[in-house]
Amino acid sequence: MFRFPEGFVWGTATAAYQVEGAATEDGRTPSIWDTFAATPGAVRNGDTGAVACDHYHRLDTDLDLIAQLGVDAYRFSISWPRVMPEPGQVNQKGLDFYRRLVDGLHERGVTPFVTLYHWDLPQYLEDRGGWVARETAQRFAEYADVVHDALADGVADWTTLNEPWVSAWLGYGYGLHAPGRAEPAAALAATHHLLLGHGLAAEAIRHRDPAARVGITLNLSPVAPATDDPADQAAARRMDGQLNRLFLDPLRRGHYPADVVELYRPVSDFAFVHDGDLATIATPLDFLGVNYYRPNLAADEPAGTDPLAAGVRLPPDVARTAMEWPIQPEGLTEMLLRLQQEYGPLPLYVTENGAAFHDYLDPAGHVNDPQRIAYLDAHLRAAHVALGQGVDLRGYFVWSLLDNFEWAEGYGRRFGLVYVEYGSQRRVPKASAGWYRDVVRANGLT
Ligand code: FCB
Repeated sequence: MFRFPEGFVWGTATAAYQVEGAATEDGRTPSIWDTFAATPGAVRNGDTGAVACDHYHRLDTDLDLIAQLGVDAYRFSISWPRVMPEPGQVNQKGLDFYRRLVDGLHERGVTPFVTLYHWDLPQYLEDRGGWVARETAQRFAEYADVVHDALADGVADWTTLNEPWVSAWLGYGYGLHAPGRAEPAAALAATHHLLLGHGLAAEAIRHRDPAARVGITLNLSPVAPATDDPADQAAARRMDGQLNRLFLDPLRRGHYPADVVELYRPVSDFAFVHDGDLATIATPLDFLGVNYYRPNLAADEPAGTDPLAAGVRLPPDVARTAMEWPIQPEGLTEMLLRLQQEYGPLPLYVTENGAAFHDYLDPAGHVNDPQRIAYLDAHLRAAHVALGQGVDLRGYFVWSLLDNFEWAEGYGRRFGLVYVEYGSQRRVPKASAGWYRDVVRANGLT
């Protein structure tokens, strides 16, 4: 029996833009994702989050689905432009929605884990430079105060940012996510301002509420060289630098990794780093959230030294998900152990783990997803191995409660424990939902 410690938090997760819809209702203004999704060619099939899972209008149904899973916790994010639709303006109707969500969770015995930023920057801030502009970090701390004041009596666990690497690098460095800019120098400035925003928001929340638990969620992924050729090893170190250490080192050690700074000297003078910023960024964390999906293999790319373009290889003969991501649960054990050893001691949560497969509703009205069950089972066992080796892992959240808007991939990639028939908005719990409910009930696997 793979039992988990007493008090281990079992959860599931979503993010505002991926599920809410109601993009123009009750005062919400556009985020960069509304703008990006409306850009021809940006998102597969031209999908947008305008309706998504219509969660905004189906809150009670979805709260009941969460309760049926029997989970301890639900991780969701707040839509910044719903809460602050214009600069400096607070929208009570937006806050009321999240109040209903938090109260509805408590009524069902579920603990809310709030993420303040899961990629949907107000468009009015992008128009002033977005995360490339230092001002955005300050605005983020003000927004954190607004949300905290409204929800603090019902929320103890606060995550500032979800996956700042994705915001900075896919959004500003490679142009694959909103706002669709492809300039490494912009991605570096965005990285810094996101981290600064995290530190300022964490300080603001703690100032008001010393008992609050404040953390950040990173997408972390071990990087191995494709071969033991020194050139491939150097490529792996570059990718690990950009993906993992560029975020972990300032947060935990108060400085940027010297090799990454060197790599980018030709494109940036790093003048955006001001005195005192790194002390703010390194403010103590109550927990670190880890989103783990897959590891990476890096190969040298003669065309240049860009860490990501530097040949991300897929391991041969490894099963993949519908995202084409290789299924390698041992990468989760490796990453958790590394965090403990190199960046700990530190309470950790797996804030996202899950997989997309080509699920379908069968004629009997069931969705049978044995591959997702196998994926989740294997990753929980991998997390259990890390626990057995002393890692301070406090909880695990399945991505995702519902099939939803999978960013640039649109609705074609289904990650939910619950199937969503988008035409009717009917929800059908998949076989994995029943499996997860049993795991939570048993607090482990047999
Ligand atoms: C993560 C995101 C989450 C979801 C999963 C599949 O990078 O945080 O919103 O899209 O990937």
